[in-house]
Amino acid sequence: MNRFRRGFCRTYQAAFRMAMPVLPYREPERFGSVAELETVFRRMGTKSVLLVTDPFIRKAGLTKSFEELCARLGIKCPVYDGTRANPTVENVEEARWIYLKEKCSCLAAIGGGSAIDCAKAIGARVVYPKRTLQQMKGTLRLFRKIPPLIAIPTTAGTGSEITPTAVLTDEGVKHKYTMNDFVLIPSFAVHDPEMTRTLPPSLTATTGMDALTHAVEAYIGQSTTKETRRLAIDAVKLIFGNVEQAYRDGNDMTARRNMLMASYYAGHAFSKSYVGYVHAVAHSLGGQYNIPHGLANSVLLPHVLEAYGPAIHGKLRELAVAVGLADGKESEEIAANRFIVAIRGLNARMGIPETLKGIRREDIPIMAAHADREGNPLYPVPVLMDAGELEKLYEAVMDGGEEK
Ligand SMILES: NC(=O)c1ccc[n+]([C@@H]2O[C@H](COP(=O)([O-])OP(=O)(O)OC[C@H]3O[C@@H](n4cnc5c(N)ncnc54)[C@H](O)[C@@H]3O)[C@@H](O)[C@H]2O)c1
Ligand SMILES: [Fe+2]
Repeated sequence: MNRFRRGFCRTYQAAFRMAMPVLPYREPERFGSVAELETVFRRMGTKSVLLVTDPFIRKAGLTKSFEELCARLGIKCPVYDGTRANPTVENVEEARWIYLKEKCSCLAAIGGGSAIDCAKAIGARVVYPKRTLQQMKGTLRLFRKIPPLIAIPTTAGTGSEITPTAVLTDEGVKHKYTMNDFVLIPSFAVHDPEMTRTLPPSLTATTGMDALTHAVEAYIGQSTTKETRRLAIDAVKLIFGNVEQAYRDGNDMTARRNMLMASYYAGHAFSKSYVGYVHAVAHSLGGQYNIPHGLANSVLLPHVLEAYGPAIHGKLRELAVAVGLADGKESEEIAANRFIVAIRGLNARMGIPETLKGIRREDIPIMAAHADREGNPLYPVPVLMDAGELEKLYEAVMDGGEEK
């Protein structure tokens, strides 16, 4: 990246860093089970709540306790279960129509990041009926309060129940973009590990590595605070200590609970300290090929950490020490490499591939341009890269060349 653009990016990031303490960040009110939501509904006098989910979650019976609670309390609960993984603008519009038709005053999402983000975007469209989602993309564009949103995660990955972010796919232009606004932070979150019991091993692995990516990207970025460094370290420790166990034994509720907490801490950390190029590149791959977010991140993470080089060795050594891979006496380089090797080891043991199938060379420039626009100037990455430099990251994870 040239000197002038670098200067612009760093100044922009410094301005956000200085503004962070006065920005209206808040945490959701937290509960341990769906049953505890009764008090919330009574307090709000809810008459009709739109439940946003996806077809698999509903089929797995994960929405049952919520629907039964609503029935018992005499609350109407229309369900939108059409959310796709990497949710689309169309999903949001379909669901918003139901919200209006059923005169809802509250939103609930049961699912992974896709259902929760879809619900955030529905809320945004409800309070900004004249703005398209395209017009809402970016940072700090929305100020009107969205309807109260209850987020009930069924994956331990995105931390969307605490983040101000919603990620949407515009299928028409194969572009995945983010909206980052404090009004999108859910009002309530339910952390019940039972909700993640049915998550299959491969998704347990990749969504868990998404949470690790949030923690690591927040930690190595240039906008950390004492609080976000602590949250990121706690998340990294929990993930190193539990993700493999949750992958091997999905019924281990201690491991599941620890992963839910890790995802929440990591989500909190990156909400204030941002993510980095792993996410910018992963989003472009999700938009272009619908590659699942967690999978793209898991594969990209070690490659991007290597690409940042010596600039992050000191920080990675701290993480290596935190998880017991180093004692701090080794050189920064040796300890950092151990941390990266450990990530590769986790990936390998959980059946995550080293490369991604389906990337076509001719699509790389456009995806790199999208990643450049998403990451620069917003993400306070340790080493700035322009579109040309980002292209190398796609090449690094291409599966033995191009798709035939
Ligand atoms: N808002 C944020 O801060 C944020 C952060 C990171 C990623 N994201 C976005 O979130 C989305 C990814 O979310 P995700 O990784 O949680 O996955 P997801 O919501 O896309 O779900 C992935 C698959 O897992 C299934 N699934 C989920 N929970 C299950 C369970 N308990 N049992 C059985 N199957 C289950 C779903 O039906 C789906 O098929 C992407 O669009 C990504 O860009 C958002
Ligand atoms: Fe993520």
